[in-house]
Amino acid sequence: MGHILVDSISKEYPNRRKQARWGNGSGSPSSGILPVLSNINLEVGDGEMVCILGPSGCGKSTLLRIIAGFETPTTGSVLIDGQLVVRPSSDNIFVFQSNGLLPWMTVWENVELGVRKLPDLRSRERKVAEQIEIVELEGFEHHYPYQLSGGMQRRAELARALAINPNVMIMDEPFSGLDFLTHMKMREEVVNMHIFTGKTTLVVTHDIDDALIMGDRIVVLGVCPAQVRLNLRLDFPRPRDFQKLPELNKLRQQIFLMQGVTYAV
Ligand SMILES: Nc1ncnc2c1ncn2[C@@H]1O[C@H](COP(=O)(O)OP(=O)(O)OP(=O)(O)O)[C@@H](O)[C@H]1O
Ligand SMILES: [Mg+2]
Repeated sequence: MGHILVDSISKEYPNRRKQARWGNGSGSPSSGILPVLSNINLEVGDGEMVCILGPSGCGKSTLLRIIAGFETPTTGSVLIDGQLVVRPSSDNIFVFQSNGLLPWMTVWENVELGVRKLPDLRSRERKVAEQIEIVELEGFEHHYPYQLSGGMQRRAELARALAINPNVMIMDEPFSGLDFLTHMKMREEVVNMHIFTGKTTLVVTHDIDDALIMGDRIVVLGVCPAQVRLNLRLDFPRPRDFQKLPELNKLRQQIFLMQGVTYAV
């Protein structure tokens, strides 16, 4: 469960800046429209981890919101396990957000939200304790989000995701704002979580190395209105090391070049 088919998606927003500028009727009829996505086709296999890269503002978050059912595409459709996505479904899809914890709830209560549908209190408690142990937050169960470091907050959010056990996990820049080491550790946690759960995972990142280290597939979008510039399966062994995998290193250089960086260190 967790096969995603993005079929010829395009998305246009009303462009309020242009409307204001051309509002006296002197603009072209199309000047009030901002095309963001243009004919995006993408198939994500059950259990695949796909990392999506692209320049800022190209429409990555828009694409994720459409897949999660928070936005409707202007044209095209999204099917998850053959079902047309028309609205968000919390049972099926979990959207991992950097500040997704409810600030008035403790770590325990936040994770418990993910298992609230289990009828039996004992199994609810067991499940919550298990997830908290997996992300190594034992001892912090009764802390509120503001009492945790940024990395711990992300781990608590991961525990909530694990508790929900969705078919599809969607992560929009899950490592933004973390220091280098916490970023590396969190990346490892996400890869381990993916290996452990085998759930379909979509990760938007700005970091080319994140995408190449983590992904089963990498998708690179172009500038707005975004089109798919590269869609490549990454069949490299894990853990991935650029020094030991010259082909991966070559691909890294190519993607840097695609993004306009001529000398990648
Ligand atoms: N609800 C909205 N209404 C109007 N325009 C929007 C809306 N959401 C996004 N946009 C516009 O769509 C474009 C793409 O936005 P989006 O947030 O999808 O980009 P992104 O690739 O995620 O960027 P970043 O890497 O900076 O997060 C931007 O120009 C943005 O201003
Ligand atoms: Mg974004």
